Amino acid sequence: MKTVSTLKEIRALVDRWHRNGKTVGLVPTMGALHEGHLHLVRAARQACDRVVVSLFVNPTQFSAGEDFAKYPRDLKKDTRLVAAEKADVIFAPTAEEMYPAGFDTSVTVGPALTQTMCGLSRPNHFQGVATVVMKLLNLMRPQQAFFGQKDYQQTLVVKRIAADLNTGCDIVVLPTVREADGLAKSSRNAYLSEEERRLAPSVYQALKLADGILQVGERNPKELLDAVRKRLKTESKIEIEYVAAKNAETLEDLLILSGRVLVAVAVKLGSTRLIDNIVVDVPTGS
Ligand code: PAF
Repeated sequence: MKTVSTLKEIRALVDRWHRNGKTVGLVPTMGALHEGHLHLVRAARQACDRVVVSLFVNPTQFSAGEDFAKYPRDLKKDTRLVAAEKADVIFAPTAEEMYPAGFDTSVTVGPALTQTMCGLSRPNHFQGVATVVMKLLNLMRPQQAFFGQKDYQQTLVVKRIAADLNTGCDIVVLPTVREADGLAKSSRNAYLSEEERRLAPSVYQALKLADGILQVGERNPKELLDAVRKRLKTESKIEIEYVAAKNAETLEDLLILSGRVLVAVAVKLGSTRLIDNIVVDVPTGS
């Protein structure tokens, strides 16, 4: 497996694959890989002739005061993990390579998908994500790109740019991979103290409660959201950022819970921000 760090090298490599009729799968990551990422690499390996895993802690998607500087970075370990999954190439550029002097373009997705949920507390986050993902799609022109459901809002933003900007890339979203106690795998889980780690599964427990409430027929969003908030508040150390129930395709608020319903949560546990979600198919008219 090769590691390349320049745009010129990755473009030459991928262009050759395309010329030879190979299909290309891209797994965009910020490194600090865990089982969730590896699951994406395995799916890409199965679906595509060639697999690129990008490792790039993208500065433009972090707001001031967020964890850009302390975001875990371990290229050696990530390389070992990716090699074990038999990916073909790691693309690990520097920030200067991705954003050279004079860089002055960004991709903005409309407010319906970006000025809600995580977009409210993370100004410019989705603009940073959309811009870097678009750059990666332009560079590699993959037939498929693989993302995890944990970052649900991100997957909608990426699907939007892939379709609107005619990339021809199929955005594949795979289910969230969880620890045995339900905590969604995330590179940021490494920040949790022992006590916070013990409390963190409450987030998924609150989502499972929401699922149960929907299964027994609750269709009033307020009742559902109140129950989820109440469950989260049983842990005094959990600070709720948002609890949302939305149309899973458009992120519109729902007057009645029906169709594909996204229930999403963002909390702070100490200084660590955790997000998680479930999507429930609620029969219409029931
Ligand atoms: O999900 C992530 O790790 C990042 O947001 C992504 C998609 C790699 C863009 O930097």
